[in-house]
Amino acid sequence: MPPVLVLNGPNLNLLGTREPAIYGSETLKDVEARCAGRAKVLGLATDFRQTNTEGELVSWIQQAHGQASGIILNAGAYTHTSIAIQDALRGCQLPVVEVHLSNIYKREPFRHHSYVSPAANGVICGFGPHGYELAIEALANILNANKKG
Ligand code: DQA
Repeated sequence: MPPVLVLNGPNLNLLGTREPAIYGSETLKDVEARCAGRAKVLGLATDFRQTNTEGELVSWIQQAHGQASGIILNAGAYTHTSIAIQDALRGCQLPVVEVHLSNIYKREPFRHHSYVSPAANGVICGFGPHGYELAIEALANILNANKKG
């Protein structure tokens, strides 16, 4: 089974020091380790990446077709702005789980709309880094269901 692609957008490289009251004290490396650990238990591998660039996210999503078994995406602020990312997700023909560390619906109104959600199988938000593990589980469930046909 190809790896699960875990994609992180802008400013998530700063986890641990960025607004810890909102995003917590774990670093992106810690989140990566959580994903790898949870995936291993479920018999999956992860390919974990971060970029500050919208176009790079679009390219990675395009390239995932046939190369990844599914996508977990925290698009950061591009969640609220990027039609290009939605279009790429619609085109990639893979299961997609959207993740946010914070509960975006409890925050400023401009964070309440997601361009990612219409192209995602589901959304997990508000559970901090544990949300990534929940997303891996959700994706594993989808992949198992698809296997059974
Ligand atoms: C975020 C929420 C976004 O609104 C914000 O721009 C981020 C992080 C989250 O994980 O809670 O960069 O996606």
